[in-house]
Amino acid sequence: VTPDEFRRHGHEIVDWIAAYLENIRDYPVLTPAPPGDLADRLPPSAPERGQPMEAILADFRELIPSHVTHWNHPRFLAYFANTASPAGILGEMLTAALNVNHMLWKTGPAATELEQVTLAWLREWIGLPEEFFGIIYDTASTSSLHALAAAREFADPEARRRGSRPGVVYCSEHAHSSIDKAAIVLGLGQANVRKIAVDGEYRMRPDRLDAAIAEDLARGRTPVCIVATAGTTGVTAIDPVAAVAGVARARGVWLHVDAAYAGPAAIAPEYRRVLDGAAEADSVVLNPHKWMFTPMDLSVLYTRRPEVLRAAFALTPEYLRTAGDPRAVNLMDYGFQLGRRFRSLKLWFVMREFGREGVAEAIRRHVALAQEFASWVEADPCFEVCAPHPLSLVCFRWKGTDEENARLLDRINASGAALLSHLVLDGRFALRLAIGNLGTSRDDLAAVWETIRRLAREL
Ligand SMILES: Cc1ncc(COP(=O)(O)O)c(C=O)c1O
Repeated sequence: VTPDEFRRHGHEIVDWIAAYLENIRDYPVLTPAPPGDLADRLPPSAPERGQPMEAILADFRELIPSHVTHWNHPRFLAYFANTASPAGILGEMLTAALNVNHMLWKTGPAATELEQVTLAWLREWIGLPEEFFGIIYDTASTSSLHALAAAREFADPEARRRGSRPGVVYCSEHAHSSIDKAAIVLGLGQANVRKIAVDGEYRMRPDRLDAAIAEDLARGRTPVCIVATAGTTGVTAIDPVAAVAGVARARGVWLHVDAAYAGPAAIAPEYRRVLDGAAEADSVVLNPHKWMFTPMDLSVLYTRRPEVLRAAFALTPEYLRTAGDPRAVNLMDYGFQLGRRFRSLKLWFVMREFGREGVAEAIRRHVALAQEFASWVEADPCFEVCAPHPLSLVCFRWKGTDEENARLLDRINASGAALLSHLVLDGRFALRLAIGNLGTSRDDLAAVWETIRRLAREL
């Protein structure tokens, strides 16, 4: 690809992206293509000789979007819906062009310093104290894995050299499965993840937490980490972090707060409360790629004990040794990966293009839409809301059997008109409608609600 060809195809691709974002409602949210359909249309082997960009782009247009589940669609209302905003997409393009690997400050001064600056800005926006050090990883699963590794380092500094001993991790029964996975990867053992009972609003009970720790200590087990969730995956319950922090402090156990989805809500002053108590935690994760309009993938881990995180991971082979300057932070020392993408660039673009008020306004609008949707469900005698809905997620069900609700969900999703997901709550199948896309309008939700009611009647 010559520079001129690059320019031509680059413009073509930007035009394609602009048209895609403009006309995304023309696509079914969920592709009707069956599993294997795309694979069957692609050649079994890669080409021997290079092919012209025209042919590659033609195949992209014909084959790829028709086999995509369109996460950027305004009626994508499943899991935690999100948005790759135009500003974020532009930042991501430049990241690929610069191709920086900032394992060391020296190998990526701009990426290292921009990461620290954007995360200091974000820390201020969400109201965490200045002593919190921020670092970007790919996903919340990776951020929480690093938090648990730091917690283990804190509880058992010999583990790194000797190997892990079983140690207990505490979280609510609604915590994300990434906590179990972190315990598996670290060798703490999945059987040592204690699921603490929740109250009537699905929040971890601090009294039960304290009792579980007391019992483990009495049996000679080592508590390693308490994980409180601010915005659970199932129903966005917010654990009482301040009370949990009291238990963590009294017991001398590391407290990690998983605010992967809800953390960005703290940018809006009226939702600052989602991070109440988080300032007392040892680490906090939030995902700009969930509710802060940043393209996949970008997760942020804050810790007030960066020296412990560093002690868990720093290991510098000779060829990577650099002269020590306190302002030259080598981010490879704070995690297991050596190479690091220049992810902060897209976050910088998003934070500047939206401003704090712009992010807060979008979050406010999403919460208001979810509350209105919940009011429609409540007003319909054939449906019920299943859980409190403090943020932008509503769990609800048709007043029928689990099997009927599962069929209803399949029909909604197969219609292509919207994509919802589900959960099992208190043993019953429920539908989850999550708002997180910038394009989702009241009209979208009204149309989706109409479709849901029509399909339910047809069932
Ligand atoms: C509360 C919570 N934590 C962690 C995760 C995992 O996020 P990621 O996909 O970034 O690993 C999720 C995913 O939805 C989540 O809801």
